[in-house]
Amino acid sequence: MRKYVIAGNWKMNMTPSEAKAFITELAPCVAGKDGCDIVLCVPYVDIYVAAEAAKGTNIHIGAENVHYEAKGAYTGEVSTAMLKEVGAEYVIIGHSERRQYFGETDTTVNLRTKAALAAGLKAIVCLGEVKEERLAGITDEVVAMQTKLDLAGISAEDLKNVIIAYEPVWAIGTGLTATPEQADETCGVIRKTIAALYGEKAAEEIIIQYGGSMNDKNAKELLGKENVDGGLIGGASLKVDAFTTIVDAAN
Ligand code: PGA
Repeated sequence: MRKYVIAGNWKMNMTPSEAKAFITELAPCVAGKDGCDIVLCVPYVDIYVAAEAAKGTNIHIGAENVHYEAKGAYTGEVSTAMLKEVGAEYVIIGHSERRQYFGETDTTVNLRTKAALAAGLKAIVCLGEVKEERLAGITDEVVAMQTKLDLAGISAEDLKNVIIAYEPVWAIGTGLTATPEQADETCGVIRKTIAALYGEKAAEEIIIQYGGSMNDKNAKELLGKENVDGGLIGGASLKVDAFTTIVDAAN
């Protein structure tokens, strides 16, 4: 039995004071809804305030990225120790916007994931095909390859702290959602890849989320699919009502 994980990805939205107000409003709406783990991944500068506001609630806080080196001359970067000290428990790694705009590759995704796991953070590793790849019929190969590269060298023990977010790039922020069947099928391909790498038990246990225009209207159907164990939610995680409805769907 896998427990759903519903994670918000705020991207570059919300100031610290807005984060505090949002969590204060969200907390009573999701209180006791423990059929899923609830996570908000927020901008670095919001983490401390968000974690304070989430204390004593069932909301967990994460970051949206992390550097792989422990410290040093990496201007603008943030380390795992820094994230942990301000209260982050999760971190998104390899989001398609990082890959598209900031030169992230499967190699750096792998390094960041290893660093996060070594520090005891839970890593939400994002992968997914672009539109041209889906149209060319190579989605399965692309996600299998990304899964192998992004998780290279990660032990079965560490895999227990990995969540994979399948995010078809053409569905992110576009209002285009993968059909529940497409989401289920491709999450299934990722699960099979995990089975080949780590065995059936690990494949049965790993949480695979769907992300890409998941919202209060379509969440129930997507989450109803066998291989979809939760959601990574951008736009709809910025609205208390919509996010609560998604948490309800998971419950
Ligand atoms: P979206 O973003 O829900 O706004 O499409 C999802 C994501 O980028 O994780």
